Amino acid sequence: MTAHDASRAAASRLREAGVPEPTASAEVLLSELLGARRGDLRFRREPLSREQSKAYEAMISRRLDREPVQRILGYAYFRNLRLSLGEEVLIPRADTESVVEAALERIDLRDGACRVLDLGTGSGAIALAIADERPACEVHASDVSEAALRIARRNAELNLDRSERVAFHRADLVSGLEALAGDVDLLVSNPPYVASAALAGLAPEVRDWDPPLALDGGPDGLDLYRRLLAETACLLKPGAEVVLEVGDGQAKEVLCIGESAGLRRVGARPDLTGTLRAVILEKKGS
Ligand SMILES: C[S@@+](CC[C@H](N)C(=O)[O-])C[C@H]1O[C@@H](n2cnc3c(N)ncnc32)[C@H](O)[C@@H]1O
Repeated sequence: MTAHDASRAAASRLREAGVPEPTASAEVLLSELLGARRGDLRFRREPLSREQSKAYEAMISRRLDREPVQRILGYAYFRNLRLSLGEEVLIPRADTESVVEAALERIDLRDGACRVLDLGTGSGAIALAIADERPACEVHASDVSEAALRIARRNAELNLDRSERVAFHRADLVSGLEALAGDVDLLVSNPPYVASAALAGLAPEVRDWDPPLALDGGPDGLDLYRRLLAETACLLKPGAEVVLEVGDGQAKEVLCIGESAGLRRVGARPDLTGTLRAVILEKKGS
């Protein structure tokens, strides 16, 4: 069977089984397996080898079990990075790229050189993208999960010219970050923000494969924002900014939580679909 025929047959099996984005799943898995560009699959007329067919079949059967494409591959693309994954980290989302963009804008308004903290770094997506795209910044990344930090450190080695450009900290919110007290110019975070009761209704790709620690935001999804905004003020320099990813419809409430914690609201930025995705706040007193 040619690559083109194999991906079409796989796409129709996935479609019949009700798997979302069947064509994209089938094509991305095969193109990554073959090291080919997705758009070139249709021109590849040579038959797949026996090993390739076997490996592709194994991938498709995992996708039929609703395992996400990135977990089957073991990596995800995020801005300029290819990030290794493990079961302990969230798959970095396209939505979060717009949060990185908001952070980069704030960095540029501060002439590019500042001390940045990515709190709840997971795979390292936000911290590593900032270190990669704004080399003058001093970047710190923290997570409560030691397993996630191991993956993030590995991703720094795989993606940055000098992995020591990012300092990693095991910390439960601020507990463990005392060394940064009063020194952070920009705090960025994509905290867990799904309401606990909504977890069971998430798509199987998320519910069964992303770690609960990365998703569960408590009864109304806002627990981590309340704790984070109340506790991290001591880390921020006067005039420092906070850029937070928020879930659909959470921007207004998170801005209010920030104001109650004594911060000034700067605004909210939409993602590519027009949904408000990044909330920006500032510590008073610059
Ligand atoms: C939604 S994931 C975001 C991961 C990554 N920053 C991204 O955008 O792809 C939230 C992350 O916060 C971490 N986390 C949860 N509770 C935390 C806490 N109390 N202190 C620090 N990190 C925490 C989780 O382990 C997880 O890696």
